[in-house]
Amino acid sequence: MTTLPWWTAAVVYQIYPRSFCDSDGDGVGDLPGIRSRLDHLVRLGVDAIWLSPFYRSPMKDFGYDVSDHCDVDPVFGTLADIDALIAECHAHDIRVLVDLVPNHTSDQHEWFQASRSSLDDPKRDWYVWRDPAPDGGPPNNWVAAFRPEPAWTFDEATGQYYLHLFLPEQPDLDWANPEVVEAMHDVVRFWLDRGVDGFRIDVVHGIGKDPALADDPDEVVGIPHTALNDRPETHPHLRELRRLIDSYPGERMMVGEVYLLDTHLVAPYYGRGDELHLSFNFPPLYTPWDAERWREQIETTTGLLDPIGAWPTWVLSNHDNRRHRTRYGGSEPRARAAALLLLGLRGTPFLYAGEELGLLDAEVPPERVVDPGGRDGCRAPLPWDPTHRHGWPSEPWLPFPPEADTHSAADEWADPRSTLHLYQRSMLARRASTALRWGDQRLLTCPVGVLGWVRSHGAEQRAVLVNFTADPVDLEGTEAFGATAGWVVEVASDGAAEGTTFRGRLAGDQALWLRPR
Ligand code: NOJ
Repeated sequence: MTTLPWWTAAVVYQIYPRSFCDSDGDGVGDLPGIRSRLDHLVRLGVDAIWLSPFYRSPMKDFGYDVSDHCDVDPVFGTLADIDALIAECHAHDIRVLVDLVPNHTSDQHEWFQASRSSLDDPKRDWYVWRDPAPDGGPPNNWVAAFRPEPAWTFDEATGQYYLHLFLPEQPDLDWANPEVVEAMHDVVRFWLDRGVDGFRIDVVHGIGKDPALADDPDEVVGIPHTALNDRPETHPHLRELRRLIDSYPGERMMVGEVYLLDTHLVAPYYGRGDELHLSFNFPPLYTPWDAERWREQIETTTGLLDPIGAWPTWVLSNHDNRRHRTRYGGSEPRARAAALLLLGLRGTPFLYAGEELGLLDAEVPPERVVDPGGRDGCRAPLPWDPTHRHGWPSEPWLPFPPEADTHSAADEWADPRSTLHLYQRSMLARRASTALRWGDQRLLTCPVGVLGWVRSHGAEQRAVLVNFTADPVDLEGTEAFGATAGWVVEVASDGAAEGTTFRGRLAGDQALWLRPR
């Protein structure tokens, strides 16, 4: 029996709490709401959930501006609610990851309030304060995220600038200060002691900074510094976090958001098996729906991670990017093919709530825009049923996505041909197959526009074939057909001919999982 850690075999499901389910009718989703919908997740077959922040926050960045890491914001519930959610998830064998935001806090956090109060406050050096440049401007040319503006804000009271890689309301902590490290370790302990299985760590590559705060090179000026910050200072911090997390029983883990858009830069964040357990890798998410481009992404990822013993992750949608169905031209058949791609690759797949329903981004009219980063569309509330508010007791904080009338969870559970049933079928098949969970991956030679690979674990094998084009493709005579001759269609993205022998033809926008007879 293989004993790889749970997080290598898991399908992780991201919940953006504001948009999942509202239990108290204030238009914002909450922790009791999530608990009330656990049956959906159990039936779907998710192994773990990742909760985006539910901590106390002024919500300038909807929770990624934390003002108390160890309390629940009243809009989401109470500490008793998170305890109950963790306990109930565990009772259903669902692990719980929470979001850790170590790079910055809210400007309303008591640490920053103290820090900004005077030049000699004991917490002054918990944040990055610098004198103005000789011309009175910001100390360097770094640019913040969301808006093309300096990553520095001048504070009249003490006559210095403070650094913020995101909003001015999100000052960066200074991880060069051991007191900050210790305070953040205390936060980690607080949540591990409460029973969480691990953390998704926000902009984790950002925590180590150049002590000289040197200017970004001219050729990248204008790119937010958060996408550039790749410093040796970060790695010792990750090793310490790893030691802390591994010191707890029960395979706790961390998955880092390393937002560097080149897999060569991401790979080192796994260290020598002593830094991140898992890292997000976003270049595939930004890759268009094109077989050749995806082949390059798969080869690059496995080529860099396999030799260092690092386990890949794959993700197509999250709360920061347009949903993959929207990005891939709005086609639901294509989004369904993408689901079999995502769940068929070697590595841990991350789903974003609503992708199992095949949701599109909402079209948000200007008067309802609330996010400073323009990400409202993918954060639309989940439609639970076909009634006029789709299971939300009052008007939600954002408009519903298009097709909410036909793509609610209740509608899709009632229809075996739905995208939801496709996700459920493929996740069940994945759970039942060591080849799909842990198997090696060998790419096959395929016709133009098609990608195919075989996953093998011992004697067990599965094949994945994805037609990236809208036209049918014949595989006869290709290596892909030779390797799978006589195999049976286990899952088809359009549901067609499951359980029958594969005949060597892929319909347009179709993906298949095959198994030997
Ligand atoms: C990445 C998070 O995913 C995003 O939503 C947030 O705005 C930034 N980090 C800042 O915390």
